[in-house]
Amino acid sequence: MLSSRSFAAPARQCLRQARASPRWVPATVQISARFYSAIPAKDKVAKFNGTKNKDGNYTVTLIEGDGIGPEIAQSVKDIFSAAKVPIVWEPVDVTPQLKDGKTVIPDAAIDSVKKNYVALKGPLATPVGKGHVSLNLTLRRTFNLFANVRPCRSIAGYKTPYDNVDTHLIRENTEGEYSGIEHVVVDGVVQSIKLITKAASERVLRFAFQYAEEIGKNKVRAVHKATIMKMSDGLFLGTAREVSKEFPNVEFDAELLDNTCLKMVTDPLPYNDKVLVMPNLYGDILSDMCAGLIGGLGLTPSGNIGDECSIFEAVHGSAPDIAGKGLANPTALLLSSIMMLRHMGLFDHALKVEKAIFDTLADGKTLTGDLGGKAKTHEYAAAIISKL
Ligand SMILES: NC(=O)c1ccc[n+]([C@@H]2O[C@H](COP(=O)([O-])OP(=O)(O)OC[C@H]3O[C@@H](n4cnc5c(N)ncnc54)[C@H](O)[C@@H]3O)[C@@H](O)[C@H]2O)c1
Repeated sequence: MLSSRSFAAPARQCLRQARASPRWVPATVQISARFYSAIPAKDKVAKFNGTKNKDGNYTVTLIEGDGIGPEIAQSVKDIFSAAKVPIVWEPVDVTPQLKDGKTVIPDAAIDSVKKNYVALKGPLATPVGKGHVSLNLTLRRTFNLFANVRPCRSIAGYKTPYDNVDTHLIRENTEGEYSGIEHVVVDGVVQSIKLITKAASERVLRFAFQYAEEIGKNKVRAVHKATIMKMSDGLFLGTAREVSKEFPNVEFDAELLDNTCLKMVTDPLPYNDKVLVMPNLYGDILSDMCAGLIGGLGLTPSGNIGDECSIFEAVHGSAPDIAGKGLANPTALLLSSIMMLRHMGLFDHALKVEKAIFDTLADGKTLTGDLGGKAKTHEYAAAIISKL
């Protein structure tokens, strides 16, 4: 969960320091499209299968979400429209329904994502005590979104204790500690089963190696605790070693989770040249830790990748405390939409919009309140548009 501290860090002071120091260009701006074409499209895991309509546009399902969702989604729509990104949005309602005691997503929303192969999603509030499981979990299960991709790069204009962070983490998204298999053995004794399968491990690992090649970081590191969970993490690690043989150009090694955490908060820079891949729970925790290195969840994008469909989303919540006030920062959703464009092969548009976002943040003149500025959501979006 995102704490308000993530957004209310001593941002003013940070920004002042950042402006005084030499400007660092975020790594993403330096990534050229050539890295993204290294793997022939036919061999790709989870490749995007969408096609343009007769007007030359892709249709993308838009789940605006709750709370600040519609406000930040509006910024994405305005910026994409100004940047002439060849996309038409198909908004869908994902208000959960209970069918036979199970939380389900309305059929129209499912059909839309299946038809378009891709969706952009704002935050969804999880109703408390109404019998629904998390809608986010339901979406992952419904579309079998097996890999959660979380890049975290330092942002010029938002100074944190660490400079030039550029971590890429891939989390297995379907099983492990999140399998939901729990039971009471006897009173006072419960068991929770961590399910690891070779098939799911292979799939996410192959995706991680492919992703590393695509972004030009030719090292993959599996993060695990096979010293303790010899069978489950042992299977994940053994599978990683096997899959690594399919990618002779990518260096592979492994590291214990606790060691990774210690080393990363001491000095994250040695992690800039590699992609980390790991089972579900480790990825959940470590990806938020990486977000903390660059200023919190408000600045970090994510992609949930499936064999057929993929859903890109901001990882922060619906921020009910500021909803409807024009105070929300749309950066995380915007950066998620940039990941989406790259997934769709729209590299030039991604680079153009991304550069305008980072330039606006580095300028520091038109920032939202969480980053120490006074701008309203639409004013920040307008500043980005002026830099396109
Ligand atoms: N991926 C998701 O859809 C997701 C993730 C987390 C929480 N949630 C849901 O969101 C609801 C609220 O959760 P919460 O309050 O714990 O976390 P939250 O992320 O909504 O808010 C935490 C703090 O961060 C601020 N904040 C969050 N996003 C911001 C943004 N873009 N710009 C500026 N400030 C921002 C909020 O104002 C608040 O002070 C809950 O129903 C929860 O289940 C959804």
